[in-house]
Amino acid sequence: MKKNSIFYLSLCLIFTACGGQKKQDATTNSLIIPGTQWLDTNGNHINAHGGGILYHEGTYYWYGEYKGDSTYWNPKVPSWECYRTEAGGVSCYSSGDLVNWTFEGLVLKAEQNDTTSELHYSHVLERPKVIYNASTGTFVMWLHVDSHDYAKAAAGVAVCDSPTGDFQYLGSMRPNGQMSRDMTLFKDDDGRAYHIYSSENNQTLYISLLTDDYLQPSGIFTRNFVDQSREAPAVFKRKNKYYLLSSGCTGWDPNQAEYAMADSMLGAWTVMGNPCRGKDAGVTFYGQSTFVLPVAHQKDAYIALFDKWNKTDLIDSRYIWLPVAFKGDSIAIGWKEKWDLAKVFQ
Ligand code: GAL
Repeated sequence: MKKNSIFYLSLCLIFTACGGQKKQDATTNSLIIPGTQWLDTNGNHINAHGGGILYHEGTYYWYGEYKGDSTYWNPKVPSWECYRTEAGGVSCYSSGDLVNWTFEGLVLKAEQNDTTSELHYSHVLERPKVIYNASTGTFVMWLHVDSHDYAKAAAGVAVCDSPTGDFQYLGSMRPNGQMSRDMTLFKDDDGRAYHIYSSENNQTLYISLLTDDYLQPSGIFTRNFVDQSREAPAVFKRKNKYYLLSSGCTGWDPNQAEYAMADSMLGAWTVMGNPCRGKDAGVTFYGQSTFVLPVAHQKDAYIALFDKWNKTDLIDSRYIWLPVAFKGDSIAIGWKEKWDLAKVFQ
């Protein structure tokens, strides 16, 4: 090989190693590069926004919003910048290592023809989460189901006997008789599951114990962070303390995150402040929380998952995954250009 060729080859290698491609390829390494385009094992950008992860029998399943490829502005919502795209249903990706993700397909499909269907692509399907009910052997999905103008404010439920679909849609409701938009699920160690959702026009966060089959609200719920407009809830538990990470309420635009702690899921919750540290910590690194994942079989290993929305091209929204650090019971989430899962969690 000529000297020049060697020089250019070396340059290329350095460029690639430095993330010059601005893409996170599915490879055998364990690097997480927040905010870049994350490719699945087929080389396609992972399309699973507002998502959550289920760990089941040695495999992680990432469920999220499958966004359509044309973003438009919805002028029928004058009060805020309502950028929309076609609802593509709920996607699922599987992985054994949290870095290389295989597309499992659309596990809850959007309806293409019937405009009256809640799952029609012109409506809103957001923030799907799936938990497993061990006593019924059923995978239960809850998601934010809305009309094109976000006025319906409901929660939908779908079920399946396999994590990879097809999920059967059971319908939607306003849980506990109140609005439900941004939401998550949390399954506790005792098998009880909770639906956590922005209610009362996004002003107050409800925490609702589900029935034993996880298909309905049990009727036991609490109103939390009253009039504090918290959205994008993500819950985890460590050492018998519950943590709730959330965002403020500014549509697709980033704002400051906040976390709260409690001794019981139903509260009372104590606000602890912004957990983010470092560059752009005041705007959650330009992200918005969606989930906190406990890494399986690892002590004190939690990953905070954020969406980095691109409001004018929603399908190109990115993912910011960062490790959660603990000091006593307090948490901190520091910005990292890239980090190695295998080294951070040993
Ligand atoms: C955000 C919410 C997102 C999406 C968006 C629509 O506040 O967290 O899930 O609903 O508004 O603008």
